[in-house]
Amino acid sequence: MSNPFVNPQAPFGETHGPMLTGTFAPIFEEFVLDAFDVEGEIPADLNGVYLRNGPNPRFEPNGKYHVFDGDGMLHAAHFDRGKVTYRNKWVRTAGWLEEDAVGGTDYWGIMSTLKGRTDRRLKDTANTDVIGHAGHALATWYLAGEPYHIDPITLETLGRGDYVFAPGKGISAHPKVDEITGDLMFFDYFHQAPHMSYGVVDAKGRLTHHTAIELPGPRLPHDMAVTEHYSILHDLPVYNDEEAYRAGRHKIRFNAALPTRFGVIPRFGAGQDIRWFEFSPCFLYHTINAWEEGDEVVMVACRYMPSKAADGSIDEVLTARRIATLGMNARLWRYRMNLKTGEAREECLDDACNVEFPGFDSARTGRKTRWGYVVDHDPDILRWTGIRKYDTDSGACAGAWSDGHESCWYSEPWFGPADNQRSEDHGYVVTFVWNDRSREQQLQVFDARDIGQGPVARVRIPHRIPPGFHACWMKPSQIAAAK
Ligand SMILES: [Fe+2]
Repeated sequence: MSNPFVNPQAPFGETHGPMLTGTFAPIFEEFVLDAFDVEGEIPADLNGVYLRNGPNPRFEPNGKYHVFDGDGMLHAAHFDRGKVTYRNKWVRTAGWLEEDAVGGTDYWGIMSTLKGRTDRRLKDTANTDVIGHAGHALATWYLAGEPYHIDPITLETLGRGDYVFAPGKGISAHPKVDEITGDLMFFDYFHQAPHMSYGVVDAKGRLTHHTAIELPGPRLPHDMAVTEHYSILHDLPVYNDEEAYRAGRHKIRFNAALPTRFGVIPRFGAGQDIRWFEFSPCFLYHTINAWEEGDEVVMVACRYMPSKAADGSIDEVLTARRIATLGMNARLWRYRMNLKTGEAREECLDDACNVEFPGFDSARTGRKTRWGYVVDHDPDILRWTGIRKYDTDSGACAGAWSDGHESCWYSEPWFGPADNQRSEDHGYVVTFVWNDRSREQQLQVFDARDIGQGPVARVRIPHRIPPGFHACWMKPSQIAAAK
């Protein structure tokens, strides 16, 4: 094993691909910091915690590395009456604890093995998503694993949710929490029929509903959405290449001959109650929010634009390769599904900007929202060069900011409400930013009503936070529920 401290920019050498070197290089220390150089003023009426998950491998990987393989590490900014405390900590997954005991790893990554193989085990890294539920934070993994409960302040791993069942025995990244009822809606997906399941966990963490969802074949969905009464599940034309799968390899296919389908199921409905709506073929990494309008279910999302060949047709091979490597090219999109007439409509809200990794006022999950906060995505690598606020009613950009598109790496922005929130965007947008040029790491806070004026506070953190995936905002009331 390489000594990770020899070269912090390439702790495992250069042999595992670009996602472990330079700005992507993992860090190996767990910090608790509360004294910072601050430019501007940390708002006293911003209280709660910004949590961000992401891959941070502790040991040199076996074989080729993919970002879904890196051990989940949470970075947190806890805001308390004008003060901020930063913490970072690995999620103590079962695999992490096992490796900790022996000082190394015998796990393999998704480029070298598959779920279910016993000769080369794949580790559930819990590195993809984080969301507040039942008083704790929940860390989850894209390939569907166990739900890890985390103390949102100390970042200690508290245990695992007991709501994973056969046949998949997992929970995918991107469960959704209805913050009004406290229900958490989740899905699982797996290679064998029926290929998907769906469940609801109540505000106390008890599984109250679980049902099988039949898909036409094994699929690789990524996200879901909820409204007040329904959940929206995704059947996307992306799946494992069957020949590679039988050979034990992970290779994905995009099939432009199949539609993209969204299934609307009552929150506590059985699998056969689901109603499928067909749309133009695409992949879809992330939804922003969904809600009900009369007979319609409306979902706003970042639609992954399939790559085109020279003759204008969809290049399936290139599309699959770009999805696999997170080479994002996405547009803000609105889908409408009419439960009375069965009509399905879709429209691009802004064709100009490649935007992804959205946040919004999560207190309004499943209810009509107007504002979404997204990142400008580098189309070639997992790098987010700025942040942007959208009016998702009109598709108009309502403010954008970057300290430099050439040098900056933003994290997923989330909205934290002001203490006396008077309107949907009365509050702040929080993000981490690493700047390659100045070699400086900041935590930035924006007035959500005016992103374009730049940060109202820049908190200088004395080490680089590697790029990651998803974030969330937890309010004091959500945290107090754990105590
Ligand atoms: Fe995601």
